Amino acid sequence: MITFILNGAPVAIEAPDDMPLLWVLRDRLGLTGTKFGCGLALCGACTVHIDGLATRCCVLPIAAVAGKSVTTIEGLGNEANLHAVQQAWIDEQVPQCGYCQPGMIMAVASFLRTNPEPDDSAINAAITNICRCGTYPRIRKAIHRAAAAVRSSGASPA
Ligand code: FES
Ligand code: FES
Repeated sequence: MITFILNGAPVAIEAPDDMPLLWVLRDRLGLTGTKFGCGLALCGACTVHIDGLATRCCVLPIAAVAGKSVTTIEGLGNEANLHAVQQAWIDEQVPQCGYCQPGMIMAVASFLRTNPEPDDSAINAAITNICRCGTYPRIRKAIHRAAAAVRSSGASPA
């Protein structure tokens, strides 16, 4: 039995220790917002937060999150209370097909927590998720927009 906090609530699940967290989230817990892309920790489609840090969970064994706090795109914000990054994504109309975007948003939300005023080179270095639709220019714009919104609100980009 592995126990951890998922989107703020305790979870206990029977699963093999080496089952990837992504499988548990999608196939056992029904949280399909986190996507499967490469399965090799290369594309970032499966990015979630583990204790607040962006983590690619397609290769992360479920045993590694025992006792930790996991946040998925479903727990980042909600329609009544969007995260600043989600709002910026809407305002800049970032997605094309959308497949990469949950992972992209999770990566950016974590990044802005430690880099509240990033320049383009910091963004390029830190956000290495892959978008097959090539939405990178809009992603960069939305990151600057989200960062400015957080700075002007005085809130922390949780
Ligand atoms: S599916 Fe995890 S990084 Fe590609
Ligand atoms: S919006 Fe299609 S892969 Fe990124």
